[in-house]
Amino acid sequence: MPVTLSLPRLLRDAKARGEKLAMVSLYDAPSAALACEASVDLILVGDSLGNTILGYESPVRVTMNDMLHHTKAVARSVRNASRSKVPIIADLPFGSYTNVRSATRNGADLVRAGAHALKLEGAGPSSVRAVRALTEMGVPVVGHLGFTPQSSLLLEGVVQGKTGVAASRLLEGAQRLEDAGCCSVVLEVVPSEVARRVTAELSASTIGIGAGPNCDGQVLVWHDLVGFTTGKLFRFVKRYAEADTLLKEATEAFVGEVHSEAFPEAKHAWTMDEAELKKWMGAKDHEGAEGEEKRQGPDGS
Ligand code: KIV
Repeated sequence: MPVTLSLPRLLRDAKARGEKLAMVSLYDAPSAALACEASVDLILVGDSLGNTILGYESPVRVTMNDMLHHTKAVARSVRNASRSKVPIIADLPFGSYTNVRSATRNGADLVRAGAHALKLEGAGPSSVRAVRALTEMGVPVVGHLGFTPQSSLLLEGVVQGKTGVAASRLLEGAQRLEDAGCCSVVLEVVPSEVARRVTAELSASTIGIGAGPNCDGQVLVWHDLVGFTTGKLFRFVKRYAEADTLLKEATEAFVGEVHSEAFPEAKHAWTMDEAELKKWMGAKDHEGAEGEEKRQGPDGS
């Protein structure tokens, strides 16, 4: 599949065939290249980048400039990767889609930066209006329900949709998003039963994170799945490697070898051609002698 705005088709076909999709949230060129090599189905440039790599304490600190910068880096890398067919979804950050005008302006900027689709949170009136406007503009939109980090100040607890009332509200929200044009909905930290029902009732595909096995796809943050994050992790995270240990050991080894002068070795350096070196050293001696003469005066005083 060429990289075009054909994400809805890819999602629809995968859902119809019952094929699960693997999405990874990542933010830079090297991780995007690795993800392409690893045959991920979808890349998300998530606003989790605020916490994961920018050192913000909350995703609400993430700006459009942050998202544009990282979307461009990922898009350049995906374009250059050998398997450059992975659709890129970019998050519209907090406060960037409160009305149709800001949603379409910011959405267009992210598409120009290289995104093939956009993701936004919630199913309230402004989110639904933004989905409709972006879809009419020709941009595929992915919704995000359940635990929505951009409104975490309002949410009680992490797991959402635990009661029948809350689960119905979530299902209705997902249906509103689909009606407005969403081609997919991310379900974050909701009971598996809720994710199963939403997945069954929507024709749009669902991508789960902490939502159990019954979604049409799964997403994890790349830094979490490769073990490049420190601190307490949510239980929905599975670490497939211990990259932090590997990288710390490599860095310690470098520091140790610099201090002990074991690095660099001859093979890490370049030498001058011998004749050139002799000429240069001779010229230098000559220059040095002339300079010395000038400083001392012609009579050596
Ligand atoms: O920002 C992000 O990375 C996300 C995923 C965790 C779904 O929204």
